[in-house]
Amino acid sequence: MSDEELDVELEARLEEQEEFEPPEAFVEQANVSDPAIYEEFEENWPEAWERAANLLDWEEEWDQVLDDSEEPFYEWFVNGKLNASANCLDRHLDDRGDEVAIEWIGELGETRTYTYEELHREVNECAAALRDLGVEEDDVVTMYMPMIPELPVAMLACARIGAPHSVVFAGFSADALATRMNSADSEYLVTCDGYYRRGDPLDHISKANEGLEDVEQDATTVVVDRLGDDLDHDLAEGQVDYDALVADHEGAEVEPVTRDAEDMLFLMYTSGTTGKPKGVKHTTGGYLSYVTWTSHAVLDIKAEDTYWCSADIGWITGHSYIVYGPLALGTTSVMYEGTPDYPDKDRLWQIVDDYDVDQLYTAPTAIRAFMKWGEEYPERHDLSSLRLLGTVGEPINPRAWKWYYKHIGNEECPIVDTWWQTETGGMMVTTLPGIKNMKPGSAGPPLPGISADVVDNSGDPVGAGRAGYLVVNKPWPGMLRTLYKNDERFINEYWDEYSIPERDEWVYFPEDGAKLDEDGYITVLGRVDDVINVSGHRLGTMEIESAIVGVEGVAEAAVVGGEHEMKGEAVYAYVITEDGYEGGADLRDEIVGAVEEAIGPIARPEAVVFTHELPKTRSGKIMRRLLEDIANEDELGDTSTLRNPDVVSEIQQKVQGD
Ligand code: WTA
Repeated sequence: MSDEELDVELEARLEEQEEFEPPEAFVEQANVSDPAIYEEFEENWPEAWERAANLLDWEEEWDQVLDDSEEPFYEWFVNGKLNASANCLDRHLDDRGDEVAIEWIGELGETRTYTYEELHREVNECAAALRDLGVEEDDVVTMYMPMIPELPVAMLACARIGAPHSVVFAGFSADALATRMNSADSEYLVTCDGYYRRGDPLDHISKANEGLEDVEQDATTVVVDRLGDDLDHDLAEGQVDYDALVADHEGAEVEPVTRDAEDMLFLMYTSGTTGKPKGVKHTTGGYLSYVTWTSHAVLDIKAEDTYWCSADIGWITGHSYIVYGPLALGTTSVMYEGTPDYPDKDRLWQIVDDYDVDQLYTAPTAIRAFMKWGEEYPERHDLSSLRLLGTVGEPINPRAWKWYYKHIGNEECPIVDTWWQTETGGMMVTTLPGIKNMKPGSAGPPLPGISADVVDNSGDPVGAGRAGYLVVNKPWPGMLRTLYKNDERFINEYWDEYSIPERDEWVYFPEDGAKLDEDGYITVLGRVDDVINVSGHRLGTMEIESAIVGVEGVAEAAVVGGEHEMKGEAVYAYVITEDGYEGGADLRDEIVGAVEEAIGPIARPEAVVFTHELPKTRSGKIMRRLLEDIANEDELGDTSTLRNPDVVSEIQQKVQGD
């Protein structure tokens, strides 16, 4: 059969076949392939979770799997003792010391390879150096770094000495850095001079310094020199050069600190409904067990694999599935500094080909871009090393799913569409690739041991075929333990507000809408709160609004997510000006600049629409749904409850005229 005929046949099959069976060759070698695992977790819950904990080395075993006496402050693997850095490094040295832990590829094409032995050495030196600077157990160390190896080194060094890290995405602004350091009372920062984007050096240290000016406490800062001669930077007082610091501690060994299972491993700030980011607290025992287990069961990682997650370590996906899960399993984790289309649109496929990558885990927004660029780019390369594909971050539409399946996976790789969040620590809803059929567009059933459902406003299950709110009914080891120093907000955001008194049971609300299928598969629809998802990046509309209203001449602003072909969602800002101010190009530029300054370029509005009024209910609430409909040029919902229905057509005309 010719390629063309095959294509036609596949298209026809794809059209009628909504389910795909896991490829046989994959099943035969899968880490988990016995369907009995679902029952095992159900019948033996929570003890079955020992399976996850048993993938780690513990200094002392836990004496209770789950303590649920003070819900929702659950504790897992109670009184167990371990160290995360020892689990990701030391325990591999005997058998795998010479195997590669991190394959790093810089944007300019340079590479760095760290064996487990070498990574262990640098982590020890860095840990000794941090200690020398004064970092003590439980001090929060902030990291503001792009995708360079010193980032995972510093994270693991912190884990080694029991100092929780708080990584701030390098694309975030100076303000965002300062807010997070202040909120965590963090007195240490590890950052770098800059990095490369599309071949050009990009200054990062100026942004870090600007942020530091607004940090209330004194902060000791370590600066990695990434750009060498491409960027001269002076170290300010209290700033130390990373290389010099590590060289001073050459050969140092630091005994991994014994941490309690419930001790904090790290903090990660994420966006919520209010303007203030939430400091999600993850623990050493539960989190590490959970990401290691899901890396094993879902990503099918084996020690001898070369695995690649193309996310940024500045987000939870990179923490869980570039650093902690893969390294705990002793595999080779690929880390790429740059963008997927530099120097050309086949960069990713070049890397897969060069390194014989076994698993690729990426985001739907990237897949949509690959589709648009065309299949000639993957076709230039041998992708036959791939065994499994994964996606995360937003819903994937069946067309993109099928493209990924065919053009990247050659119909031989299962795809795992993994639903989860910063708060969940690791994957929650997805198919086990060696067991379950795949249904494009639907993430799959909850993982074994995870109990999820779709409910209505009063908390009653909506039943198959209907949409509602996604809920998780039982705790799990990787769950957030609280919001840093804010137990009250933790309860309010995830628990109290929605607790269902009649049932007297704790239910976790992820703030996502979903539909339950007949077969128990869950199709995730997207956020139901004021959080939007731009290219898989989670942004709070309130944070963006507060940046906009800070601009002189702006009276009021409402931000919503409008559909966007490539980004999934894009930022739409509706703005009312103050009397005497004109809503023109200048003000628009100022607004865009203010958003970039407060959050970063990722939050840049796609459209700024000036209007005299915002559509409001009689009680004065802004009707965001309506603003979304306008952005999407959808048919409008009911406008009869509006106090000012006339404003709708005015705004509509403006958007369409843009
Ligand atoms: C969305 C990223 C549909 C969802 C790991 C969630 C998804 C938010 C999927 C969390 C998926 C993530 N299908 N939607 N497979 N994965 N989401 O905290 O809305 O950055 O609530 O964690 O991303 O984003 P976060």
